[in-house]
Amino acid sequence: APDIPVAEVRAHLDELAAIAAANGGNRAHGRPGYTASLAYVEEQLAAAGYVTERQPFDYGGTIGYNLLAEWPDARTDEVLMAGAHLDSVGAGAGINDNGSGSAALLATALAVAESGTAPERTLRFAWWGAEELGLIGSRAYVDDLNDLELTAIAGYLNVDMIGSPNAGYFVYDDDPAIETVFTDWFDARGIPTAPATEADGRSDHAPFAAAGVPVGGLFTGAGSVKTAAQAAVWGGTAGRAFDPCYHRACDSTTNINATALDRNTDALAHGVWELAGL
Ligand code: PHE
Ligand code: CA
Ligand code: ZN
Ligand code: ZN
Ligand code: ZN
Repeated sequence: APDIPVAEVRAHLDELAAIAAANGGNRAHGRPGYTASLAYVEEQLAAAGYVTERQPFDYGGTIGYNLLAEWPDARTDEVLMAGAHLDSVGAGAGINDNGSGSAALLATALAVAESGTAPERTLRFAWWGAEELGLIGSRAYVDDLNDLELTAIAGYLNVDMIGSPNAGYFVYDDDPAIETVFTDWFDARGIPTAPATEADGRSDHAPFAAAGVPVGGLFTGAGSVKTAAQAAVWGGTAGRAFDPCYHRACDSTTNINATALDRNTDALAHGVWELAGL
C-alpha cells in the first residue's frame, strides 16, 4: 500500500473545519454543516472516478444521508467495505470525532483511484450519517441489505477517532484475521498496539458485526484516561484523556495528533490493500 502523505489528510480536515465554521459551528445530523460535508466528500470521489450514491434515511423527522462510493473495477463479486461516520455532535466541528476517520478514508479511496490497479474484491467506501444519535445511518444501511448483498460483504473496516491528541494505538479485536492485518502494520514499525475494548459496540462496525460480517478497525481513544502503563509505551500524558475535547467545542483542527493520524491512515490503506487484494 502507498504511504499516504498526512498533509493530504490534514487538507481534508481543514475543509471540514471550514465547512463547520461557515455553518453554525458543527456538522451534525440534519444541519447544513452535514450536507456540506457530504457534498465535499462526494465531489472529490466523483472527480476521481467513483460511482457514488446518497442513501437517505429518516431519523427524528429529519432526513439523513449515508454516502456510498464504489470503485468500478473489481475481479470478483466479493465486497470489502470500509467506513467512517461523517456527522459530528452539535457541540463542535468534530475534527477528531470523526473528521479524522472521514478524511483518512477519503485519502485512501483517492489513493486507490490513483494506483491504477483493479482490486480482487469490489471496494465500497461508506461515510455514515447520524452515528452520534445511535449508529442510525450504518444500521439503516445494514437493515436495507438483502441476504445476497449481506453475504457478499467479506469484511467491514471502521475508522472513528484516529487522531486523538493523547493517542493510544487501539486495534479492534473482533475478526482475528482482520486484526492481524492491522497489528502486522504496527508491529513492523515497532509500535505497540492494544485491543480496542473501549470501542466495543460503540461505532458503525456494530450493525455489521451483529449481522455476521467480519469487522475490524482502528481507534486512538476517546474520553477515557491514559494510564501510566499506556503512557510508558505510547508516550503522551498519563492521567489525561486520550481526547480531552471528545464531544466538545474544542474538537477543532488543533485537536489532532499528526503522528497518530499519519500512522493510522497508512495502516488503514494497508488494510484496504491487503483485504481487497490490490
Ligand atoms: N462512536 C463514539 C463516538 O462517535 C466513539 C467511539 C469511537 C467509540 C470509536 C468506539 C470506537 O462518539
Ligand atoms: Ca503517511
Ligand atoms: Zn465517533
Ligand atoms: Zn462521537
Ligand atoms: Zn501495505
